[in-house]
Amino acid sequence: MALSLRLASLAALVPPGSIVADIGTDHAYLPIFLVEKGICPVVIATDIKDGPYRIAAGKVKDHHVQDKVILRLGDGLTALKPLEADVLVLAGMGGNTIREILASSPHIMSGIKRLLLQPMADAADLRFWLVANGWRIADEVLVEEDNRIYLIITAEPGLEETTDPIFLELGPRLLEKNDPLLKVYLENIIIKYERIMAGLAVAKSSTAWEKALRVKIKIAKIKGVAGCP
Ligand SMILES: C[S@@+](CC[C@H](N)C(=O)[O-])C[C@H]1O[C@@H](n2cnc3c(N)ncnc32)[C@H](O)[C@@H]1O
Repeated sequence: MALSLRLASLAALVPPGSIVADIGTDHAYLPIFLVEKGICPVVIATDIKDGPYRIAAGKVKDHHVQDKVILRLGDGLTALKPLEADVLVLAGMGGNTIREILASSPHIMSGIKRLLLQPMADAADLRFWLVANGWRIADEVLVEEDNRIYLIITAEPGLEETTDPIFLELGPRLLEKNDPLLKVYLENIIIKYERIMAGLAVAKSSTAWEKALRVKIKIAKIKGVAGCP
């Protein structure tokens, strides 16, 4: 099984020998790769929808790994039993969906040693939730594929100390490491806020104007961190 760069980057962060649960597996490419390469003895692969579950079952059968990829149909972590997995992978979903899945099963989360998260949006909300719930941002990686930049967050149990929430919003490890894709990543965040500000600026209400001002201040702060003029 050959993986896309995004999925290969996730696979590289899986500690060898760990028991992974890939939540929202869809095609099950990552679980199949992990067991075929001998990185994991077993992977639990779950999906909430019947269609992806069936597709995953077909791929698992094609690759003759039915004894090593355990497929389950279910919503988020409800498909897992406590202490069954050491590592959770949640990739290709929105950051707020990932946050809701993690938040709704504290009894499963208490046994997890590493989270590998690849949010498609709302990474800041996800980081704030992680840090408020006993997780530290152990590492962050940016991956470019098909003209899109993907973020991967590795979180582990622990305390994340931050001097300014803006670092948590943008990615504390990305900023420290000065990731090669950081400049483009931050420019994309600035563009997103500039669009929000433009939308608010045309509104007539004073509330919208106040919000626009707050967004303007945030943009200036991000530009300061990014070193943009
Ligand atoms: C875009 S696919 C990502 C597939 C794969 N993880 C990847 O990164 O390539 C998202 C998958 O998550 C599943 N999903 C969404 N919400 C879920 C939930 N609450 N529990 C389990 N799976 C979920 C969807 O059915 C879909 O198959």
